[in-house]
Amino acid sequence: MGDLRENILRQELQREVDEAKRLERDGNRKEASEHYLRASEIYRRIAYNAPPERAQEMFGVASKYETFGKALVKGKTEPEMQEEMISTLIVSQKPEISWDDIGGLEEAKKDIREAIILPFVQAKPPYIKAPRTILLYGPPGSGKTLLAKASSNTLSATFFEARMPTLLSKYFGESQKLINALFEKARKTQPCLIFIDELDSVAMSRDSDVDESTRRVLAQLLTEIEGFNTSKEERILIMGATNKPWDLDDAVVSRFQKRIYVPLPDEKARKAILRIHLEGADLSNIDMNSLTERTGGFSGRDLASLCQEAITRMVREQNPNIEKLTVKELEAYSLKYRPLQAKDFDSAFEKIKSTTQPKDIEKYEEWRKEFGG
Ligand SMILES: Nc1ncnc2c1ncn2[C@@H]1O[C@H](COP(=O)(O)OP(=O)(O)O)[C@@H](O)[C@H]1O
Ligand SMILES: [Mg+2]
Repeated sequence: MGDLRENILRQELQREVDEAKRLERDGNRKEASEHYLRASEIYRRIAYNAPPERAQEMFGVASKYETFGKALVKGKTEPEMQEEMISTLIVSQKPEISWDDIGGLEEAKKDIREAIILPFVQAKPPYIKAPRTILLYGPPGSGKTLLAKASSNTLSATFFEARMPTLLSKYFGESQKLINALFEKARKTQPCLIFIDELDSVAMSRDSDVDESTRRVLAQLLTEIEGFNTSKEERILIMGATNKPWDLDDAVVSRFQKRIYVPLPDEKARKAILRIHLEGADLSNIDMNSLTERTGGFSGRDLASLCQEAITRMVREQNPNIEKLTVKELEAYSLKYRPLQAKDFDSAFEKIKSTTQPKDIEKYEEWRKEFGG
């Protein structure tokens, strides 16, 4: 989208939000609601054209306006509105990821499993402390979110997933309330695991740009996290994740009692991950060893994409006119497929490349030597 168009939409957005707030203050909930809903629509239009790394955030804001709009006409109370706000910004669920769905990462799995079950052992001397706050660091797509979800699953815990940029976003203007509400809800929903992704998105020390309100919110978040390190309440676990540990402030790093490296998969791990993502497919024509060898430097996510791409190519080849069928015809259609072949992967390799730079791997190793473990 041209900047001009985005600017116009943003001005329109601002007008709608100002108007909504004014009407809300005057107690005119119904009309305020309409303006919030319109703001939400405009924001979605801006988000559709935003680059992916910003879009997700922006859709979150759009949903927030929608939630406000709907809540107003339903005559919701302030706490109910808060509740809805959390549910649109912070995903809470019972994940179904098990340790077996995660290939490789044996060391990380073992470290995490040990750490998360210790709090449940009642009979232990006081000097043996169980870490309540764990930082996962490593390249993008290496399995950090998966590990957090499997942990949550093991503990039959509710999984709260929040992204740092969402928690600190200026658009909300109510970050502090949001964080309060998150931790309050977590305390009421035990056992639970709070997963905070993209911790590196704000760095206080280097960034002189970080404004006062963001600083305050970050400090509040750190205080909350610190609280868990010392509290007796043992059924809440906090996991943070970052792809760029070197961008983290010392203040953030030191809040996490345990730090676990989630590296790129080695050869054995890559084979295991390929098998997970090809489960069910006929691989009798595929030489898994040479396939694995070709994937050096791939992350778990790269491997998953590669498998998906190869499968898609096979399906497309076998069902060339499928997109021309009507919905009715599709219902009666049975999909054709065949064993996967080397050519499916050859094409897939043209499209899917490793997303991690070798020089980054060195940076992770260095950081690990200094802070990791
Ligand atoms: N070790 C792994 N085993 C199986 N799949 C993996 C693994 N690591 C990554 N993936 C695939 O990549 C996707 C992204 O992984 P994710 O855990 O979100 O990475 P991260 O949080 O480290 O960026 C997963 O949903 C999964 O499909
Ligand atoms: Mg992730």
